[in-house]
Amino acid sequence: MAEPERKVPLVDVVAAWRAQRAELDAAIGRVVAAGGFIGGPEVAGFERAFAAFCGVRLAVGVASGTAALHLGLLALGVGPGDDVVTVAHTFAATVEAIEYAGARPRFVDVDEATGGMDPKGLAGALDGAAAVLPVHLYGLPVDMAAIGALAAAAGVPVLEDAAQAHGATVELPGDDGPRRAGSLGNLAAFSFYPGKNLGAFGDAGAVTTDDEDLAARVRRLRDHGRSGKYEHAELGWGERLDAIQAAVLAVKLTRLEAANDARRRLARRYSEALAGVGDLALPATPAGRSSSWHLYVVRTSQRDALLEHCRAAGIEAGVHYPLPLHLQPAFRHLGHGRGDLPVTEAWAAECLSLPLYPQLEPAAQERVVAAVREFFGA
Ligand SMILES: Cc1ncc(COP(=O)(O)O)c(C=O)c1O
Repeated sequence: MAEPERKVPLVDVVAAWRAQRAELDAAIGRVVAAGGFIGGPEVAGFERAFAAFCGVRLAVGVASGTAALHLGLLALGVGPGDDVVTVAHTFAATVEAIEYAGARPRFVDVDEATGGMDPKGLAGALDGAAAVLPVHLYGLPVDMAAIGALAAAAGVPVLEDAAQAHGATVELPGDDGPRRAGSLGNLAAFSFYPGKNLGAFGDAGAVTTDDEDLAARVRRLRDHGRSGKYEHAELGWGERLDAIQAAVLAVKLTRLEAANDARRRLARRYSEALAGVGDLALPATPAGRSSSWHLYVVRTSQRDALLEHCRAAGIEAGVHYPLPLHLQPAFRHLGHGRGDLPVTEAWAAECLSLPLYPQLEPAAQERVVAAVREFFGA
């Protein structure tokens, strides 16, 4: 009997370990042997390297992307009674963090072409807001030239949700060259969840900024509001980055650009092979913005049937995200209903993520391409 074909996974985090196994195992062994599991030189070293990668002065390692968003908002002084402008087409943590801070999410719709925050809806929405929290969804930076200008005009600080955008770039007017996600607002929040472009071996995250006061505030908040060993200047949290994760991340950071290049090549291949197929809308690549290709997301009116077809062919496609946050039971108290954010709702109904990770073999990618083309009779 013929061997059944192996599944093509959506992501393969073990393949990333295999690619750097000796260095990663040595880094973990070094931390364990030194016995310094919390803070210390591994965390400080990774923070320096990651800040340099993003093109900012400072990075503060924290326990997750969710913690990065939460502590980032607190550092900006966001609290009860405040509104934070954001989107509903994102992972739940973006909005959870706003609620953890005691503030209220104020949703704006997303852009039809990219699924990111639409600057067109932003102008009036910024009035009286305490912060704006755009999400570089799927790795494509939002239109920061427009959003940054509107936020600056309204005097509203920007916290980037860069959880999916390690290494993505934007060209801003007046700059000499492109800037990386993480350097585009007052603060940025990164996730190093295992499947991210830069993924830890567990939960991890970071806040990046050029502002020493904001970084100092996040450093204190992540560590119980401590001002001395047993002195607590304010209420804080237990949201530190641990040393094993920092050591793993420092090793993986050395290959991040190469891994992102591999993602870019795979994305280009999908876009060549799927152009003009059925009613597929392929990912937009607006001028002046480069994606980190965290996800390769297509849109089709036949999303659920295509998803089923892929699964039957042994291909793990995904949906990011099937129910927008303004319609989730957890956020019912915000009082939204269907039709409030029509473009967001269309994205949720039609988006499909195809397998994409740096070690995806060409033959496996061609299986994905063939399955999608077959579905549409192309
Ligand atoms: C857009 C977005 N924001 C926030 C998060 C939260 O990050 P974490 O899972 O590390 O808490 C994630 C990832 O899961 C994400 O994709």
